[in-house]
Amino acid sequence: MEKVRLTSLVRSSGCNAKLPPGDLHDVLSSLPPFHSDRLIGGYEAADDALVYDLGNGRVLIETVDFFPPMVDDPFLFGEIAAANALSDIYAMGAVPAVAMSIACFPSCLELSVLREIMMGARSRTDEAGCVIAGGHTIADREPKFGLAVTAVHDKDKVWTNSGAKVSDVLVLTKKLGVGILMTASKGGECPEASFNAAVSAMRTLNRTARDSAVDLSVHAATDVTGFSLLGHASEMSEASGCTIAIDGSAVPVHDGVHDLAMFGFLPEGRYTNEDYIAEKVAFSDSTGQTMKDILFSPETSGGLLLSMSSFDAEIYLERMKGSAWIIGKVLERDGKPVHVL
Ligand code: CO
Ligand code: CO
Repeated sequence: MEKVRLTSLVRSSGCNAKLPPGDLHDVLSSLPPFHSDRLIGGYEAADDALVYDLGNGRVLIETVDFFPPMVDDPFLFGEIAAANALSDIYAMGAVPAVAMSIACFPSCLELSVLREIMMGARSRTDEAGCVIAGGHTIADREPKFGLAVTAVHDKDKVWTNSGAKVSDVLVLTKKLGVGILMTASKGGECPEASFNAAVSAMRTLNRTARDSAVDLSVHAATDVTGFSLLGHASEMSEASGCTIAIDGSAVPVHDGVHDLAMFGFLPEGRYTNEDYIAEKVAFSDSTGQTMKDILFSPETSGGLLLSMSSFDAEIYLERMKGSAWIIGKVLERDGKPVHVL
């Protein structure tokens, strides 16, 4: 029996398969406004998850994320989809408590493939210490997988994307370029070492990134996924009423990404992101085209983006042992929400 290549079954993959942000915004902003005293985040401020006040000093945090495969190996795909879904909980400063699967699966594929995907997800929820049970699966032409995840957390300890303070620095905990590498991989052009580095980053939980910061003063937090570094940074600066200045030369990028971007291996989401975000970003004259490509490209299961004092950031970087980078700083609002230096 020939082994199925999961990515050959799908048109776009990973967080790149998100609806263009402009389209989504148009629909969401056309809905009648919803208000509840219990709802304290997740609707207006474009936060990573919904936050529901339980009224006793505790909150429920809920998120759902699913997407088509960006790798051929079903176990690996399950791991990446789960790490990506769990990440929104870590981005709120919380710990995932329970998860349910959401899956679409072609009836022509062997069920063992679905089992492998679920086993991959299970390995990540096990590492997260998260209960996984139940879910929903439907037959569909393209496979897709993800999780709905819930956490319970102290109300006053929730991280949001709205508290970035002037003079903070911005810290990123995974390298960029995964979307570009997976696009090249689909075309058979991604060097093996780069592919392996990207996969290893995508399946890595943002658990350590969260745990290493809980006793520090995190003023704002989010994770970097389909809307690109610039998209998520602009959400943070708009919610916080500041300007975020990103130092392009300080942004960590996977090996091989620059060359592949130059050769044109760019995910479609790179352009829909730019359509939506470009007016919020001021580039310096020295920002090259490939750097723009990288900064606008969707990431899948990317790192946390944290705004904290430079004092706390030094402690954090030491704890993260080389897998966290200071990539910019927070300024008084000065024209556009994001500047790229
Ligand atoms: Co997120
Ligand atoms: Co999400």
